[in-house]
Amino acid sequence: MTKKLYVKTYGCQMNVYDSERMAEALSGEGYEQVDSPEDADMILLNTCHIREKAAEKVYSELGRFRPLRDANPDLRIGVAGCVAQAEGEEIMRRQPMVDLVVGPQTYHRLPKMMEAVEKGQKALDTDFPEEDKFLKLPRQRATRGPTAFLTVQEGCDKFCAFCVVPYTRGAEVSRPADRLLGEARDLVDRGVREITLLGQNVNAYHGAGEGGDWGLARLIREMAKIDGLDRIRFTTSHPNDMNDDLIAAHGDCEKLMPYLHLPVQAGADKVLKAMNRKHTAEDYVRLIERIRAVRPDLHLSGDFIVGFPGETEADFQDTLSLVETVGYGTAYSFKYSSRPGTPAAERAGQVSAEEASDRLQRLQSLLTQQQRATQDAMVGRRVHVLFEKPGREAGQMVGKSEYLHAVHVDGPAELRGRIAPVEIVESRTNSLRGRLV
Ligand code: SAH
Ligand code: SF4
Ligand code: F3S
Repeated sequence: MTKKLYVKTYGCQMNVYDSERMAEALSGEGYEQVDSPEDADMILLNTCHIREKAAEKVYSELGRFRPLRDANPDLRIGVAGCVAQAEGEEIMRRQPMVDLVVGPQTYHRLPKMMEAVEKGQKALDTDFPEEDKFLKLPRQRATRGPTAFLTVQEGCDKFCAFCVVPYTRGAEVSRPADRLLGEARDLVDRGVREITLLGQNVNAYHGAGEGGDWGLARLIREMAKIDGLDRIRFTTSHPNDMNDDLIAAHGDCEKLMPYLHLPVQAGADKVLKAMNRKHTAEDYVRLIERIRAVRPDLHLSGDFIVGFPGETEADFQDTLSLVETVGYGTAYSFKYSSRPGTPAAERAGQVSAEEASDRLQRLQSLLTQQQRATQDAMVGRRVHVLFEKPGREAGQMVGKSEYLHAVHVDGPAELRGRIAPVEIVESRTNSLRGRLV
């Protein structure tokens, strides 16, 4: 008998990848994925701990499932991901209806855990095991859409003063290169044309490969040799790990797309130092110049935190001027959120919520202007779009340009999975409209 699994994913792309792998691990136990919690025998929340709001959402979401559980006592509820790792048993204390808690490094053990859960027991596993979970997970088989994520590196050793990732994901581990090339080939066989290589610190990748350790650039160049794979991207990178080889790849590897997410977080050296980012604003600006020298049309994306402890108005002005200097195609900005167990949480000089909100609003209005200008500048240009799905209106198809802009055109459903030249005719709020050429 098939049982029904509903998975909801929060947080970063690595969680999206993990959710897919967890669903596949459970498909061996007879679980088939469904789109709504009402139909499920098992609900699995894959959670994010990065900011307080994200973590608290888990509890409100669990509260929403209470009526489902009351109506169906056989419904099982599990929490996976970074909140599971960080809060463990606390989750079961706060929400006794939770049956299962599994961390990001132990989900290959889910089938075993589910056996206990189906018998009405509770299961919790938030170890950092020695073994490589990816070797224990079933090989992926289902056919799929034209784009996919592939986690190549996990964890982080950088310990930025604000960040929980080194604690929730553990130490940096790179997966072996031959495994990744094999998984990439599998993906291509299953219909994928674009792969985004993932890692919390993806450009620190140094996996075992032929002849010794490979860096990310080497992995990308080897992956680019796979026939049928047309596009490669990677995220998220740290400025200090953008080495010469990876910069060069942006200039000479045709399949590597001209888009780079390279967070700087703040523009004042004092704040960068307090964040433990280990580079200055000037270092970052010079780095961007070097990358743009090999790939002038590169679209740059970033992350920013405002209101880090000790950040003054003058420091914040430095962030604004760095944004002016660099020019971003897109960017994500956040109010600093104090996270338990991180060094910054204990610091003096916490910025008031009002001040932080005000800074965030000013930063976002500048970033939105830049995003808008970048998009508007695409009008009249020809791009190549990998079509992924039907658009909102009938007869429309949507896909991504090489610059990761969402582009929709009037065109047939057969475009799905194809890359076609498109002329951009209009810039809208969060997408571009184009015409097939
Ligand atoms: N590994 C990536 C980012 C991972 S978290 C990197 O180093 O760039 C994604 C983003 O969330 C971070 O870039 C940062 O901007 C934001 N972030 C992380 N911790 C935060 C916190 N405590 N408060 C607010 N934003 C945070
Ligand atoms: Fe967090 Fe810093 Fe590691 Fe990124 S590099 S995951 S921000 S500790
Ligand atoms: Fe969130 Fe964990 Fe990713 S904290 S951002 S889901 S690594």
